[in-house]
Formats: sequence, C-alpha cells, structure tokens
Amino acid sequence: MAGRGRRKLIVVSNRGPASYERDEAGERVTRRGSGGLITALRSLVSHEDVTWIASAIGDEDRAVAAEAGDEGFEERAEDGSLYRLRLVAHDPRSYDRFYNTVANPTLWFLQHYLWALGDAPDVDELLIEAWEGGYAVINRGFADAVVSELDRMPGAAVFFHDYHLYLAPRLVRDARPDARLGHFVHIPWPQPDYWRTLPDAMRRAIHDGLLANDVVGFHTRRWRGNFLDSAAELVGATVGAARDSAEYAGRRVLVTSHPISVDPGEFEELAQDDAVVAAERELAARRPERLVLRVDRTDPSKNIVRGFRAFGLFLEQHPEMHGRVVMLALLDPSRQDIAEYVQYLEAIRAAAAQVNERFGGNGWLPVDLRIRDDFPQTLAAYRHYDVLLVNAVYDGLNLIAKEAPILNERDGVLVLSENAGVHEELSRWAITVNPFDLVGQARAIHEALELPAAERREWIEGIRAHVRRHDIGVWIADQLADLDAGEAAAER
Ligand code: G6P
Repeated sequence: MAGRGRRKLIVVSNRGPASYERDEAGERVTRRGSGGLITALRSLVSHEDVTWIASAIGDEDRAVAAEAGDEGFEERAEDGSLYRLRLVAHDPRSYDRFYNTVANPTLWFLQHYLWALGDAPDVDELLIEAWEGGYAVINRGFADAVVSELDRMPGAAVFFHDYHLYLAPRLVRDARPDARLGHFVHIPWPQPDYWRTLPDAMRRAIHDGLLANDVVGFHTRRWRGNFLDSAAELVGATVGAARDSAEYAGRRVLVTSHPISVDPGEFEELAQDDAVVAAERELAARRPERLVLRVDRTDPSKNIVRGFRAFGLFLEQHPEMHGRVVMLALLDPSRQDIAEYVQYLEAIRAAAAQVNERFGGNGWLPVDLRIRDDFPQTLAAYRHYDVLLVNAVYDGLNLIAKEAPILNERDGVLVLSENAGVHEELSRWAITVNPFDLVGQARAIHEALELPAAERREWIEGIRAHVRRHDIGVWIADQLADLDAGEAAAER
C-alpha cells in the first residue's frame, strides 16, 4: 500500500462504518460500526483517500444525511484518520422491502441454501413488488450516489460489498462506462440450480449486475467456482481456462478468491480491556471443568439448534461428562424484524431448554445460553474455551474461527463445518464436521475433548501462524491489486 500516495476509493456497503443516535441527554452520539466487514475495511480508511457510501438506517442517520444536504461529509475514524461519509436516505418503505423482504429472507436464505424447497420460497406478488419497489429502488439510490461521487473524484475505484448491492454496478457501468468497479461477495455463492428458485428475470439481473464489475471477489475457491458456473449457465458468460475470469457483454471480468482475515494485534490489545478482565472473572467463577463455546449471530445459517441437539446426544453417550462440561452459547440477536429470524430465536431457546431439562440438575446447567451482544464477554470466552464449535449450515467465511484461537489460553480445539468458507484454510488444524450430521458432531465434541495435549497445541499454533501470515493487511492488499489487475484485464 505504501509508495504510491493515497488511492481514491469509493467504498459502498449497506451498513456503514458510523451510525448516529441521540443519548438520554438528547445529544447526538456517533456509534462506530462493528462486525467483520467494517472492522476489516477500517485500515483502508487510514491508508487511502476513502469516501464511504452507506444507507442512512435509523432516524438520526437520516437527520445527519439531511443536514449534509444528502452529500458526503467528513467523519473521523477510531484511529483519528479522516474520511468522507455519504449516507443515502432512502424512502423508508422501499428500504423496508429491500432489507426485510429481498436482501435477508430471500437472497441471504438462497445463498446459504436455507430453504426447504417444498415450502419456500414463494415468489409471490409481495416478493416481486419488493424486488421492483424495494431492492431495485435502493440499488438505484446507491448507484446515483456513486455516480455523483465519481464526478467529484474522477478516476476513483469503486468497491461494492455484498448481496445488498447486486444491481448497482450495472447502473453505474451504464452511466460511466470507464469506471473501475470491484465487488466483494462476503457470503456463499450457491450452485446454479439453486439460483433457479428465482424467476429468470431476477436471477439474470443479479448475475448481469455483478458481471458489470471489473472484479468480483469471494472468500473461497468453492464460491468462486459456483459463481463462474452460474454465470455461464444462467447468463451465458464464457469462463476463462484458468477459471479466474469470465467474458460477458464484451468485457472481461476478473473473478478472484481471497479469504478475509483479522488483525491479530488488535485482538490482543482489545483483550487487555478492563471489561474483558471483569468478564473473565465472572466466567472463571462459574467455569466447569471443560468448556465448549459457540459465538454466533442468531441466524439459521449458523446451525445453532443442531449444535444443541448434537451436544445433547454427546451427553447421552457420555454420562461420565455430566456435571463436568458446559456448552456456552454467546449469541447476538439478529434481524428481529424478520419472521424467520424471530422463529429461529424461539427454536434456539427451546432446543437449549430441552437439553437442560433432560440432563441438567444439581446446580449444573449443560447449556449456558446468553442472548445479547457483549463483545468483552466474547473476548473473555475466547481465552477460556476447550472446544470451539463452528458448525454452520453454510458460511461465507466465519471470522470467529480465526479470532478465537488468537486469544485462547487452553489450546482449545476447533470443530469446524465443512461448509464454512474458512474450512478451506483451517481444516488441517481442526476436526471437520458435516453440519447436518448430529452423530458426527457429537463424536467430534468427544474427540475434541479427548485430543492429546501435543496435538491440541500443534493445531492451535498452526491456526495462529496461518492467521498471522494471512492477516487483514494481506486481504486488503489483495483487493487493491485485484482492482488494478481488473482494470488492465477489462482494457485488453
Ligand atoms: C453478516 C455477513 C455480512 C453481511 C452482514 C449484514 O455479518 O457476514 O456479509 O454484510 O451480515 O448484516 P446486517 O446486520 O446489516 O443485516
């Protein structure tokens, strides 16, 4: 990143790096965004000349956007560096359809294979309406903002993120044919047949939109391969022999895979915080002999209910562990305006209660379920687990599997779904599970608890060394190099 001055970049994502609220005294407070993507992109802000375009989501965001005249304004990142933020205040009804009907219950569900196809999806009038009057409208709003920023900063590269924005690149490309556009998809890309759950016009628009970029990036070779297959099958793109590009509409699009990562030093520093030390004391006071940990958003893709069932099966098979082991589930409540997510959270509570009723007693609660967003508690638990369970149905990557081993002090063992993107990198230092196989997961929990000390040490050190070598700085450098290469490819 050094040596060529600050690059002009327009980062575009639905959720932005800062949001605004009023505190009890009525003062405006800025909340710095959390979550993998925002944290990952933070270093871009300090090294490059960044304008970030995001949705104005809450009321105070909308007030800030209005005060800025719907233009960009200067904002300060946590490390003090300055960037421009432009909040797009969409029509609230359109935004609701975009987020609560299309982006999450449709695209997120589709891309994580979450439907039981006998029941869902119903492509009904509501969905068609939400697609046209929600998803397309919001993408148009983003595209207009990008075009206006490009006029301000000619030559800037545009870096779109995720499934909220599939239509925007085509709209920008039509308006500014020479723009340099990249798009990173942070979630899985399913196989072509599953895309056929959507009507032809929708799935075409999604592929056509993404292929309007110069570069399309994924976390893994697996998702990249699926994208190339669906681009060929659904919109007739020609896949390059090296399977790292596609020809479409007279242009060459680079299609890459780079797994995102974390900043290990930052985690080590964050874990020094007093709140983490206090949370550790609380955990230590209640700590069983062995601790199995999971940390997730309450999302059906995370497979939390099956994780509890598998743990129940393990307890059934291993009475000698009763009273000695606890599964601590630290769950961040997610997307609770969407019925499927509300139901899933209920199913989580019920599954945990079932295990506790069946096996618990004498002061022992086998599943310790904590549903709240509590980062210090998460960092404290990272330090103390013996087994970390990541059994996602499907997951674009899963950063927990990279973060937790950095801080762990007990040579904890990773039990890892073969459908989590991170499996491509970490499988040799983990026990692999099929996320649907309860028997296999129960066995894996047992094996992980019994793994000899030397192997446990070797595995966690393997993970740490890998994450240090492939940290977030490497991912960012790869993205910027891809944008340069993508431009060169498109010109050929
Ligand atoms: C997860 C995914 C991201 C996605 C984000 C949206 O963190 O890994 O790829 O962008 O969810 O979350 P939100 O809370 O905005 O719905």
